[in-house]
Amino acid sequence: MAGAIEVHSGAAAGHDEKLSASVLEPLVDRRIIYAWGLAALFWVTWGPWAGFFTSLKFNFPWLLGDWFATLYGPMRISHTQGVAYGWFSTGSIAFAHYMVPKLCSRPLWKPGLSWAGVILWNIGMVLGIGGVHLGFNQGLEFAEMNLLADVFITLGLSATLTNLFMTIANRREPKIYVSLWYLMAGMTWTAINYIVGNFVAALPNSTGANSAAMNGFFLHNVVGLWVTPMGASIAYYLLPVTTRNPLYSHKLSMIGFWALAFFYPFTGAHHYLFSPIPDWVETIAIVSSLMLIVPVWTVLANFWGTLKGRWDLFANTVVVKFLVLGAVYYLTTCFQGPTQALRALQPVIHFTDYVVGHAHLALFGVFSLWTMAAFYYMIPKLAGREVYSVGLARLNFWLTFFGFLFMALILWIAGIVQGHMLINNTDWPDTLDVLGFYWHIRTIGGFLMDVGMLCFAYNIIATMFWGKPSANPRLV
Ligand code: HEM
Repeated sequence: MAGAIEVHSGAAAGHDEKLSASVLEPLVDRRIIYAWGLAALFWVTWGPWAGFFTSLKFNFPWLLGDWFATLYGPMRISHTQGVAYGWFSTGSIAFAHYMVPKLCSRPLWKPGLSWAGVILWNIGMVLGIGGVHLGFNQGLEFAEMNLLADVFITLGLSATLTNLFMTIANRREPKIYVSLWYLMAGMTWTAINYIVGNFVAALPNSTGANSAAMNGFFLHNVVGLWVTPMGASIAYYLLPVTTRNPLYSHKLSMIGFWALAFFYPFTGAHHYLFSPIPDWVETIAIVSSLMLIVPVWTVLANFWGTLKGRWDLFANTVVVKFLVLGAVYYLTTCFQGPTQALRALQPVIHFTDYVVGHAHLALFGVFSLWTMAAFYYMIPKLAGREVYSVGLARLNFWLTFFGFLFMALILWIAGIVQGHMLINNTDWPDTLDVLGFYWHIRTIGGFLMDVGMLCFAYNIIATMFWGKPSANPRLV
């Protein structure tokens, strides 16, 4: 295993020189990455603006009248599915197509499979999200997209997974680097989880508490067994190649990997404390949630250890800024999550905006930031061009930073305020009068985030096509 680290973090010096001439890079299929990447950039524009519009509906419910497609319900789902599957998933799969050939020292096994993958996946997304706006909704949280869309998405994922796995199976490198462990696990778990959460859960006999338990399992595993390992695979790749230091501890990364695999699948029921689901299931979910401190700690120890002596990069480069800020949010979200799962705290925050703040901390604060870092790192090397505008990349970072700070803090405060009002028997509609003010601030924060992501999408597209040609693009 140590050899694998050396191969990769040998990425540090020699390997990175090869990377920098990546337009000439024979191993990486630039067109496939562009196809996945451009799709991700489309969804990073769609999903977050759908969120902005949803947030407007809180204060101005009459916006666009009674037109079904733009009511709160469809818009919310368009937002959550757009960011989770459209943006993050598509973006991380784009990066996987960059990372796998490099770590295996061989080109993709059958590029045609990944082409089929990107087409099927995105047809599924359009059918799914378009369907939601037309009223086709499975009624399962985070699995709202209709069955036809699910078929396309599952086929797209399977084709892509097969290609990436076969590339790894036929690798020239003797060892499997930790990023590949996370990638393979994330894809395998998700192929199963997606089928259980969408097809099995949609069976007519899956109702009531059973349905809730299964949905808790599914939706939390989207975060824990898909978003988290895919995000970790990005972070573990980028850390050594940007710092040019070897990964601090491969052993820790493996401890984190197995801790994630062991504890995460049991956490889902923490969404249903005090429900008809048996108490012992809920208790296992609480304990597993607390144990998630272990994988988080291993990622963070590796972060700070690998960055040792290279903190100048944090000050000077946007890529490392995104990585480090994402890591700080990772720590925060993984302290917040377990405490939210405690029976003592949950009565206050459940069903309030506090949880929405937490969801954004994970999916946006950690994993979207790491994916943006991945694009800023990968695209210039693929294009053989400098990043189109360093100024725009910095603006992207600061809008993200301040926008998200406003949004997260205000949602947590709003959640605690509302939770206490509800506990003190304030009627629910009366709590909404108080929350109006907080929701305005959330909209302002979200607007800044959205403008930041527009800067990101524009900057990356401009880099692909109009950036200044360079045989050795610099890390921005
Ligand atoms: C890539 C960026 C984003 C990601 C990954 C993301 C993720 C999420 C997730 C996971 C949820 C579900 C929360 C839950 O059920 O607890 C959600 C809901 C929501 N998000 Fe986002 N979001 C992003 C950007 C935004 C932006 C920029 C806004 C603008 C204000 C926004 C506004 C909302 C709103 C209004 C909801 C619904 C909350 C509710 O129904 O109470 N999001 N988002």
